[in-house]
Amino acid sequence: MATRNIIERGDETLGKVCREVTRFDPRLHQLLDDMRETLAQANGYGLAAPQVGILRRVCLVTGSDGEVIELVNPEIIETAGEQEGFEGCLSVPGLYGWVKRPQRVKVRAQDRNGKVFEAEDVDMSARCFCHEIEHLDGHLFTERVRDGKLYTEAELDAMEEAERESGRKKGRKGE
Ligand code: NI
Repeated sequence: MATRNIIERGDETLGKVCREVTRFDPRLHQLLDDMRETLAQANGYGLAAPQVGILRRVCLVTGSDGEVIELVNPEIIETAGEQEGFEGCLSVPGLYGWVKRPQRVKVRAQDRNGKVFEAEDVDMSARCFCHEIEHLDGHLFTERVRDGKLYTEAELDAMEEAERESGRKKGRKGE
């Protein structure tokens, strides 16, 4: 395993539509292993292949149980409810935006051997499914943020300080 470089916003790779995976071979397994290591090292919540420069429909999402789910050729097949909160991205370091997402998301995908499975999750993991799958279509969360506004860590810290008084809490790991 090895870590791979995470591409940042501004690189045209992140705007491209990724191709479907058709070969579930050692090369795909290597990519997934490397992405896992890259995600762990970056202390992120999710990671999509285009973020490491590979234009294939592959991503990782951390489930509510803390396990990293490998998704190949994923698609969202069901959503329910709504959540709002700050979202970040490993390709947009240090900046966060307010994004609305479904509260619950169900996906269908293939595992590293091509076997089809379904996964369903809520909260941060539901948010992450949406975020990562959008990466595969060349979209970043920055396109969806409320008022087009991105906040720095310092701005978020100040807001969180104020929110602590009202007892609200937000996650803000990169995806
Ligand atoms: Ni991202």
